[in-house]
Amino acid sequence: MPAQKMASERRMLRVFAGEALTPPPIWLMRQAGRYLPEYRAIRARVGDFLELCYTPELAAEVTLQPVRRFDFDAAIVFADILVVPDALNQTVHFVEGQGPRLDAIRSAAELARLNPSATQPKFQRVFETVARVRQDLPRATALIGFCGAPWTVATYMVGGQGSVDQAGARLWAYRDPQGLQRLISLLEDVSVEYLSGQIDAGADLVQIFDSWAGNLPDDQFRHWVIEPTRRLVGRLKQRHPGVPVIGFPRGAGPLVRDYARETGVDGVSCDWTMPLQCMTQELPGHTVVQGNLDPLLLLAGGPALACRVAELVTHFSQRAFIFNLGHGIQPQTPPENVARLVGLVRGAD
Ligand code: CP3
Repeated sequence: MPAQKMASERRMLRVFAGEALTPPPIWLMRQAGRYLPEYRAIRARVGDFLELCYTPELAAEVTLQPVRRFDFDAAIVFADILVVPDALNQTVHFVEGQGPRLDAIRSAAELARLNPSATQPKFQRVFETVARVRQDLPRATALIGFCGAPWTVATYMVGGQGSVDQAGARLWAYRDPQGLQRLISLLEDVSVEYLSGQIDAGADLVQIFDSWAGNLPDDQFRHWVIEPTRRLVGRLKQRHPGVPVIGFPRGAGPLVRDYARETGVDGVSCDWTMPLQCMTQELPGHTVVQGNLDPLLLLAGGPALACRVAELVTHFSQRAFIFNLGHGIQPQTPPENVARLVGLVRGAD
């Protein structure tokens, strides 16, 4: 099917042609996951979280679950940003209730443990999930591929786990910038292949999650967030010129302006601390805005939810805008609140 026909069919893609849609398309970051009983039922059948990511039949099923329930405008392939280090042969485990644990890489010499030519078998499984999902997805629903941004993935690879300050990667950046650059370059290379493979398998657009972009001084932000993202987006655009790219530089604050102007992304996903004024005024007119409901407000529900949803929808009514959360959905969120949110955004409440 010609790309334009497809774009008109998928509301999610029409905003990337500059259309301000009423109601706006909606999907939610981490829309597949533990807040859904049907996800928990499948999760209980596999031992390891990564095993779920690498079993296309099950990964496709959990990708489709939230779309069936809430008729979102987009599905996001079920995988994780830490598939990339795992596919590179770094040891990655998800410890129940604690999050990811990696066999930390602490110096440039230890980069020898990574094997960039080993990624294909694991990447192929994710590509197969994408292909399966595309087959079963309603024609009007877009499919999003994703990866972590080099900086955010590096913070886990170097720290060995999540942290509040990303001290491991930040210290490495100051002590040995050239060494860290080798890791970042390697991540750029494999991420181009990873995203490109997801697009070839049927993803309509991709999102780059830079969840830990916000903890850097402005010079470091430029070096480790803007520059790697610009190179990654540039290389991807060479291969797939028409495929939209959304960036999520969580916590970027006022630096979001440079991020939007310099990285080449088509859309910017904003976290919930970003003022609405800033989202309309600081982001260029051609940049699609995505966001930015506080995930805790969705969890809380009540009248405050309706009020803020109305405010967001009104504020962005003249703009190419995608309704989303400012970060991933919280596992304790009642699914009824999600159904209500979709109703509110679509004007049925
Ligand atoms: O529905 C979707 O959005 C698709 C699937 C998806 C997952 N992770 C599944 C997942 C996506 C897009 C991600 C992205 C991701 N993973 C990010 C970027 C977005 C963000 O939240 O900041 C990051 C930083 C990760 C790394 C990660 N994965 C952590 C820190 C954790 C543990 C904390 C947690 O939320 O549980 C995960 C685990 C994870 N990834 C789960 C899911 C559904 C829960 C694990 C389980 O079900 O056992």
